[in-house]
Amino acid sequence: MNLPIPSPMASDTSAFAAGAAYVDGVYMPLSEARIPVTDWGYRRSDVVYDVVSVWDGSFFRIDDHLKRFRASMEFSRLVPAESDDDIRAILHKLVALAGLREAYVAMDCVRGRPAPGTQYHPKNARPYLIAYAIPFIWLMKPEIIERGAHMVIASTPRIPESSVNARAKNFHWADMTAALFEADEQGADNPILLDAAGNVTEGPGYNVFCITNGVVATPDRNVLGGITRLSVIELCAELGLPCEVRDVSVEELRDADEILVSSTAGGPIGVSRLDGRILNNDRPGPLTQKLRETYWEKRKQGWHGEPVDYTTV
Ligand SMILES: Cc1ncc(COP(=O)(O)O)c(C=O)c1O
Repeated sequence: MNLPIPSPMASDTSAFAAGAAYVDGVYMPLSEARIPVTDWGYRRSDVVYDVVSVWDGSFFRIDDHLKRFRASMEFSRLVPAESDDDIRAILHKLVALAGLREAYVAMDCVRGRPAPGTQYHPKNARPYLIAYAIPFIWLMKPEIIERGAHMVIASTPRIPESSVNARAKNFHWADMTAALFEADEQGADNPILLDAAGNVTEGPGYNVFCITNGVVATPDRNVLGGITRLSVIELCAELGLPCEVRDVSVEELRDADEILVSSTAGGPIGVSRLDGRILNNDRPGPLTQKLRETYWEKRKQGWHGEPVDYTTV
């Protein structure tokens, strides 16, 4: 498809300083972006999404994010008008409009609303694309990342993937939201959720790794295929650390030497406490730090990077 012509506001870059958005074919300042209250994206969480980061003027693994976004859409039978090439061009333009060197760039495909007069069924809706670029968001405050996150195991289990496919990045966050409140009520920063059998899954916005006797392990079931998780797995290979992708029991997590989480919103982040147990003298562990430093060092060098085209505006 031909990309839509930017709205008149697009030439006034200052209006985009807080962020730039694209809603169903039209560019606008973030503050003007809306969806109708009747949209199933809102009323039914009938939406899939992805988030790619920009650091130092460069997208990270944008191909992987576009591929995952398309797979999430296909799984949910959401087909927007835009091709992957269109979406890539839109994301570049949004970052350029907002004038950001470090950005959090989201893309959503919402169901829309079944056309009036038709059966009230999602097949009768016209899905559409929403995207926006805003200043980079850290998963946790920098001082927490520095000292290591204080985590708890949530009593709320992760919704089973037999009910909601965790690999299709979705808005079914009731379990995550309950777990976030649990962590807060216990004075912790963030939760880790288990499945019904007591295996580790993930947390709100991140995958989980543990390290025992130099061996790294991360769960494979009931989790999103995180792009940062993939990056950590690649870094382990590069650093000569064995990394196993398999079930991880809660006992293994509790006894681990090191724990880390991985997210687009911050890369690999160390955990210094789990349910009050202190790990590594209350700091992120040494292998975690190595992974974290290598991740950011390589990103600075353009690893899996695609420079933002700032000439599009
Ligand atoms: C549930 C969940 N798991 C894992 C992740 C981490 O994925 P990524 O590394 O692609 O950001 C996210 C990211 O938002 C998430 O929402």
